[in-house]
Amino acid sequence: MPGADQEAWRALNRANWDERVAIHLRAPMYDLSDLREGRGRLEAIEEAELGSVAGERIAHLQCHFGADTLRLAQKGAAVVGLDFSAPAIEAARGLAGELGLAARFVCADVYDAAAAIPGPHGFDRVFVTWGALCWLPDVAGWARVVASLLRPGGRLYLAEGHPSAWVFDDDAAEGPRPGWFAPYFERGPLVLDDPRDYADPEARLANQRTHQFQHTMADVLNALAGAGLSLDWLHEHDGVPWRMFACLEQGADRLWRFADRAWLPLSFSLSATRR
Ligand SMILES: C[S@@+](CC[C@H](N)C(=O)[O-])C[C@H]1O[C@@H](n2cnc3c(N)ncnc32)[C@H](O)[C@@H]1O
Repeated sequence: MPGADQEAWRALNRANWDERVAIHLRAPMYDLSDLREGRGRLEAIEEAELGSVAGERIAHLQCHFGADTLRLAQKGAAVVGLDFSAPAIEAARGLAGELGLAARFVCADVYDAAAAIPGPHGFDRVFVTWGALCWLPDVAGWARVVASLLRPGGRLYLAEGHPSAWVFDDDAAEGPRPGWFAPYFERGPLVLDDPRDYADPEARLANQRTHQFQHTMADVLNALAGAGLSLDWLHEHDGVPWRMFACLEQGADRLWRFADRAWLPLSFSLSATRR
């Protein structure tokens, strides 16, 4: 992207995310009771796949207000969370203090993570989940950041909305099926004006314009390979932790799925090891 656009996406997206922090801190979707009871649980997909993190050094990129960072800390990991939203990092530090958990939080853009996170790096794991990549214009650059934070043999855990599902949007006029949103190969920026927040249907954002980016499955996998990571496994899931489309129904495991049949993957997760 030209230089002027680069600053546009960053400033617009950060203002949007700054405003969402207070909304999310009181939203039922971001229920913190598990954390407050000292038994933090990640979403069902991570719980099933991550394995023990006890004793690991983990960098959590785009950590929002740190809820999952602190869940990883409660599972025994030494964690550092990074996000570019100052209100999010302030809330994360407050939550860590309230819960008496040792966790470091850094306010920086993800592309500056290697410089912003105090060394030594050589993390055992980089953890990135749910709604992270769509905010980033350069997935190859992101993969290089991930690789630079990991020790050789260290692993990325990534769980994300599936790029083929991002192609659809809700369209009430079409009935209970999602309508088209953007072609799979249209990488963006998608300039979106949307005052709604996914965690609170009543909320209306003043900072409603964002720039978002699509990354095909091939783009993500090639970015990781190009940065020196080898794929351990890739899973596609028929569920996703948020109500991606109005027609989805929530299961006992809290994941949202199509009610009738598993029409397409709604999310994916992968593990990749730094060579
Ligand atoms: C949907 S949230 C991710 C939530 C995450 N799964 C969690 O642990 O709660 C997306 C996050 O990405 C952050 N973000 C977006 N663009 C960023 C960037 N360029 N650098 C750092 N953080 C960014 C936002 O501030 C927001 O907290």
